[in-house]
Amino acid sequence: MSLGGKSRAFALAMLVGASLAVPHVSFAQDSSAPATAAATAPNPNLPHVVILCTGGTIAGTGATSTTTVGYTAAKVGCDTLVDSVPELKKVANVTGEQVYQIASESITNDNWLKLSKRINELLKQDNVDGVVVTHGTDTIEETAYFLDLTVKSKKPVVIVGSMRPSTAISADGPINLYNAVIIAGSKEAVGKGVLVCLDDQINAGREVTKSNTSTTDTFRTPDLGFLGYMQDNKPHFYRTSTRLNTADTEFDVSNLTSLPQVDIVYAYGNYNSLALDAFVKAGAKGIVHAGPGDGSVGAQMVGPLQEARKAGVVVVRSARVGSGIIARNGEQPDDKYDWVASDNLNPQKARILLMLALTKTNDTKAIQDMFWKY
Ligand code: DGL
Repeated sequence: MSLGGKSRAFALAMLVGASLAVPHVSFAQDSSAPATAAATAPNPNLPHVVILCTGGTIAGTGATSTTTVGYTAAKVGCDTLVDSVPELKKVANVTGEQVYQIASESITNDNWLKLSKRINELLKQDNVDGVVVTHGTDTIEETAYFLDLTVKSKKPVVIVGSMRPSTAISADGPINLYNAVIIAGSKEAVGKGVLVCLDDQINAGREVTKSNTSTTDTFRTPDLGFLGYMQDNKPHFYRTSTRLNTADTEFDVSNLTSLPQVDIVYAYGNYNSLALDAFVKAGAKGIVHAGPGDGSVGAQMVGPLQEARKAGVVVVRSARVGSGIIARNGEQPDDKYDWVASDNLNPQKARILLMLALTKTNDTKAIQDMFWKY
């Protein structure tokens, strides 16, 4: 089956890159090193966008051009990724760094700390106008919110991935990367918080979630909708997030080498406290309870959660349903149990905010206020 011209060129670049087995990077090999200058002299009329590569399907390869699932993520290095979309050079002066090379379901707190610190270093530089992060789509929503809460700059940070591997017919990586670079270099995206753009839709990092296992339009913002579109090489915004983010955040990870352990207890019919008890025993400082409905808590779990609270563990009620506000003192007497309601954050995002909140306080009233503000 023959590939269209662009896809063939992109796939060829990827196969060449991937065939080198170890991803080679012609840009700064170690993310601690400064981004190297672009190979050609920078165009003074274009913004300087740094692409930080972390792996995922956008850097993935499949056995054939029709392999769209069951491929290998995180194979192709940053330089091959950047070089395979020559149109990038028409819209920005681009430099790239391989921060790490992972399938994003394996991401760790250490990965998040490293990425946030590197972005903050880069955005302090006057000659850097914006940053793009290429990332696996499985945990983009968590990374996006972590960066939304820890990047100390109003300059654009845009996270991008793809749902098809680079070697597939109609791979979505090239256009997603091209759009992300345009947004990251645009004035319109300044001060909008961390953004996620795939499939021409621009979502807020705080609100976006992956809603489908495999389709290219998987990134959605339930109920509230995305912020705008990418169309005809330009971002078009129609709204912005109302919550504190980036330059207005109180969280500072610059001196942190680890984050407090926060785990998620998933609720379901006939569940029990085995997982909760194990998390607390293992030293969890916070627990997010992913309840059905409006963050409901099974009667059999109220006691164990109160025990955890008595042991100093902060308990946050979220919901497994995917959208809507967790009403404080709605399904549960949060005041009485001293629990925190997660507002409209899903469990995996509530965990991100609770981890960062616990780097500053374990006072539940202060933490509840953070869930209302961020
Ligand atoms: N392993 C998944 C990840 O790295 C692939 C999904 C993707 O990147 O689209 O998140």
